[in-house]
This record gives sequence, structure tokens and C-alpha cells, in this order.
Amino acid sequence: MNIVVGITGGIAAYKAPELVRLLVKAGHSVRCAATEHALQFTTRATLETVSANPLYCDLFASGRTEHISLKDWADLLVVAPATANIIGKVAGGIADDALSTLLLAMPPQHVLMAPAMNSQMWAHPAVQRNIETLRSWGIAMVSPADGELACGTTGPGRMSEPEEIAACIASLSTFHSPLSTQRWLVTAGPTYERIDSVRFIGNYSSGKMGFALAEALAEQGAEVELVTGPTSLSTLRSPFSAHIHETRVESAREMYAAATKVFPHCHGAILSAAVADYRPAETADHKLKKNGSEGMHLELVQNPDILATLGGMKQEEQTLVGFALETDHELENAQGKLERKNLDYIVLNSLRDKGAGFGVDTNKVTILGRDGSRKESPLLSKREVARMIIEAVTL
Ligand SMILES: Cc1cc2nc3c(=O)[nH]c(=O)nc-3n(C[C@H](O)[C@H](O)[C@H](O)COP(=O)(O)O)c2cc1C
Repeated sequence: MNIVVGITGGIAAYKAPELVRLLVKAGHSVRCAATEHALQFTTRATLETVSANPLYCDLFASGRTEHISLKDWADLLVVAPATANIIGKVAGGIADDALSTLLLAMPPQHVLMAPAMNSQMWAHPAVQRNIETLRSWGIAMVSPADGELACGTTGPGRMSEPEEIAACIASLSTFHSPLSTQRWLVTAGPTYERIDSVRFIGNYSSGKMGFALAEALAEQGAEVELVTGPTSLSTLRSPFSAHIHETRVESAREMYAAATKVFPHCHGAILSAAVADYRPAETADHKLKKNGSEGMHLELVQNPDILATLGGMKQEEQTLVGFALETDHELENAQGKLERKNLDYIVLNSLRDKGAGFGVDTNKVTILGRDGSRKESPLLSKREVARMIIEAVTL
């Protein structure tokens, strides 16, 4: 890729040459663009040497519209570090130097920023509002890390390490993948089925697998409709969050309504949510009291089957992927579900595998295809498993 690395006047600018070096090593062509203040922290000579290209710093030096020719040349503009100042300038549409002018000329979807600043600056409502604005335009963010800051304090605000930014760029380079023109539905998390105003029937699903799938699709450039049950997870820290549209639901019926609404507009769907099969027949709108008897009967009625419904709605060109969590006769049961519900793939989780299934950060799966294909993963992080699933079902 052709990458412009933009450097602004934060202390972390001293790490920018290392990022440039890593990108050049990874085979990218790199040009640097710096603000005047950035050159208080790093030097023209260093940036020109590591990038093997002249530095773009003065808007008028060349007598040409270099901000436009650089914009045409670049596949990606990475601003690392991004000061509170540059973030505010872009959010406010200000172009008063070489880098800010280039930033306004670039399509936001081709910009990645790695903010770095003192924790109080980072927490300031103006900065947070500006970050949200930039995200909403499609600018990807590598959120700052917690750690020691140059001003002697600790807290959030420290620029992510060059290796982490380079890894993020490596996954962004897949924006040219076929998925960049596609929309996918992902369901995640548990559902809660209300008994009364304070109690529900739920399950142990954390949503981690579904969120990892949504991120893996978004990092391949897809637009993702993430329909999630109650979970403490958030996609906001993801650099790809602008491509993930979250709908939060509580019950199986709400998830059914949200999923069936968006599915017709999607190229495919991966349903990883742990949806309750049954719900209480009646829900009290107040807290049920002990009635003095030893037992209590709860009548349950069946929830709509989201997977089977989408299987019935599915058009020829759509791909539908289900999950199965089996405790016995795993392969036969998963294969049966695949056929009965008209799926293209089913991902089998086994609760027997240590480190796989609910709540944990790792998983081990078998992906069965309608065409008889079968792929098994070793025990991997849910992120890696998600990437493997996406590769298998989008080929
Ligand atoms: C020693 C020093 C360190 C600084 N570090 C940061 C920083 O990490 N992040 C930030 O947003 N501003 C930092 N600033 C403030 C910026 O340099 C200042 O806002 C400047 O106007 C940014 O200009 P630029 O965005 O055009 O490079 C620092 C200033 C000084 C003097």
C-alpha cells in the first residue's frame, strides 16, 4: 500500500520513525507529513531517512497542490501520534497547515488515527466529542493505551505502540477484499426472558464470540449489523467501530424482530447468539412475591426460531451460518441442524473442550459445510477463531 504517516506535536512523535520503519519493512511505500510542532519532537532528517522520501511539511514550499497529489497517491493516511489539536481541527473542518489540509482532502474511510495525550486532555468532553465525530465519519481509531505518560502521571492517553499500529494497518490493508462491498448480520450474546420486573431466564453467553466475528468482518471491510443481547462488551474501542452498527436487544423475540428486519439487506448472517428456546408464558410487570407454598410453576412457551426463519427467507446468493453448542452426539446433531434449518455452514462448539465455549477468551470449533466440507480449529483466541470462520464461510 501507499501510506502517508502524519506526525503531530505530541511527545510520542519520537516513536513515529519506528512506525515508518515497520511499515517500510512490511513492504509499504511510505511518505511522511508532519506539522511544524511535530518537528520539535522528531526531525526532518530522521523521517526522510526512514521513509526514503521527502517530508511534506510546508503547504506552500513546492509551489504545487501537493496535498491533492499526496491524497491521490495514498491508500491510507495514518496520523500517529494524533494530538488533541489535530483531532479538533479535523472535526471542525479546519485546514491551516500541510497535514490538516491533506486530512480534509482524504476520504475519512482511508484515515487511521492513533491519539496520544495527557489523560485529562483525553477525558475532556471536547476531545471525546471530536473523536466520536471522526469515528462517525468512518475514521478508524487505534485507541490510546493506559500507562505512564510523559507528564509524569499514569492513565489513558499513551499512544499505542508502533507494532500495534502496524498490526492494525496490516488488517486494514484488506479493505480491498471482496467483503468491502458487503453487509453482514451477526447476532451475539445471551437473551433474557422476563419472569417479572426484576427476574429473567438467561444463559452464560458473554457475547465474546459474536463481537469477535463482527470485528473480524469489519476488519475485512464489511459493514456489520450486530444484533446483541445483554452484554457488558462494547465495540467502541475497536478501530473498526464505524463499520459496526449495533442494535441492543433483550429477549429472543426482540432479537428475532431485529434480525429478520436486516437479513434481506445482507449478503450473509452469522448467528452466534445463545437464544432462549422458551420464555415464560406470562410476565408480571411487578416483582412476584412468595405465595407461601413450597414450589412454584412457571409455564414456558416456545420462542420463534431465528435460525430456521432466516433459513426459510434465505435467497440463493445469501450465506447463512449457525452455531451449535452440543454436549453429546455433537457431529450428528450439528449436521442435522445444518440440514433442517437450511444453513450453508454450522460452527460446532463443544462444551467438552477445555477453554472453549461460554465466557472464556478462547474457543475451539469445527466448521461443517453444506457441501460436506469440514474444518477444525485448534484452541485459539476467539479473535483468531473468528478470522478462521470468516475465511471459511466467505470463500
Ligand atoms: C513537551 C510537550 C509535549 C506535548 N505533548 C502533547 C501530546 O502528547 N498530545 C497533545 O495532544 N498535545 C501535546 N502537546 C501540545 C501540542 O504540542 C500543542 O497542542 C500543539 O499546538 C499541537 O500542534 P499540532 O497538532 O499542529 O502538531 C505537547 C506540548 C509540549 C510542549
